[in-house]
Amino acid sequence: MRVCSVVGARPQFVKAAVISRKLREVGEEVLVHTGQHYDEELSDVFFEELDIPEPEYNLGVESDTHGRQTAKMIAALEPVVEETDPDAILLYGDTNSTLAGAIVGSKRDLTVAHVEAGLRSANWEMPEEVNRVLTDHASDLCFAPSRAAVTNLAEEGITEGVHWTGDVMYDAILDARERSRRRSTILEELDVDEGAFVLATVHRASNTDERSNLVSILDGLSAAPMPVVVPAHPRTVSRLREFDLWRRATEELEVIEPQGYLDFVRLLDGAERVATDSGGVQKEAFFLGTRCLTLREETEWTETVDCGWNRLVGPNADSIRDGLRDDWEPTSSPHPYGDGAAGRRIVRRLQEHLSVDDPERRI
Ligand code: UD1
Ligand code: UDP
Repeated sequence: MRVCSVVGARPQFVKAAVISRKLREVGEEVLVHTGQHYDEELSDVFFEELDIPEPEYNLGVESDTHGRQTAKMIAALEPVVEETDPDAILLYGDTNSTLAGAIVGSKRDLTVAHVEAGLRSANWEMPEEVNRVLTDHASDLCFAPSRAAVTNLAEEGITEGVHWTGDVMYDAILDARERSRRRSTILEELDVDEGAFVLATVHRASNTDERSNLVSILDGLSAAPMPVVVPAHPRTVSRLREFDLWRRATEELEVIEPQGYLDFVRLLDGAERVATDSGGVQKEAFFLGTRCLTLREETEWTETVDCGWNRLVGPNADSIRDGLRDDWEPTSSPHPYGDGAAGRRIVRRLQEHLSVDDPERRI
């Protein structure tokens, strides 16, 4: 079994870390980095910390408009697929790298497999929603992290090749939590106390590219009754500067560089609350038992909201402030995202689908 895995952005490195090694135990992997994220702290640090195999190919596409970026990835990925002749192409999440892989895989009639299939925010203006829906519809294998994701796929007529696997980010966090407690010194470096700070991340285009939304988020975060640590995505840094908000942000908040995974998990684990517009961070906060305010009007991780661990506050200053000050409590603590064995299930389903199941090499 030869599988071409396509990654390009930070959350995909975390997901691939769970699967790449397992895949290589039973078959061959050709790991392709599209180059969508290229800064050291958004890319290399994850490969080093999470011991992800070095990509066989880096397409070096980097930042551009969505259309051009996706087109460049498609053009650069196709010859790699031609040359390496994989049985399947494995895609993660909902970025432009995911969509590019789905288009190349389906045009070349490969088995297209999608990890984190079936998530829906119902917000078609979100570029990630377009990427998710198109990728699911081009996929032969949809690996769903939750039962709700299976239902979402069925509602769009996708029932064949759908497998509930649980969520690979849960596998990742189970592995990282203890390690980050032992190894990370980030709380000491930032001089913040366990349970006495807010962790915030903002990078969604809808929040960063509208000055009024960014101001509103700053207003809300600044009203927190404790220090607010903000590992800032480069997109957010450039918008803060462009909108003349950089000075205010750095005076009122603890703005720091994007962090490596272990330091970031330590911050998530140690925070009193989290405020974020990230998909992965909402989920990780839930896994670690940290209450979360989501700086969006909707989420694809609906289970975290239903049980009260996550509150949708949008880029609304008053709701953010209230969410940071009020003492609200979750209503229950369910486990909708599996048992930490999603990676193993995904590799098994791939093996079965490609009919190369060798009991000697079963994991
Ligand atoms: C992308 C994904 C988003 C995911 C996020 C993870 C899409 C449509 N978006 O958003 O789903 O949540 O990654 O972090 O695929 N930049 C740098 N250095 C880098 C990468 C980006 O400075 O290494 C800057 C560039 O100015 C670039 C901007 O960030 O224009 C946005 O990067 P891009 O990859 O287009 O989108 P993200 O916001 O990172
Ligand atoms: N993350 C990290 N350092 C940071 C911010 C995020 O390691 O400074 C990790 C986080 O733990 C999660 C992933 O990056 O695993 C989420 O990425 P991001 O928020 O960029 O993307 P999204 O999940 O919204 O697509």
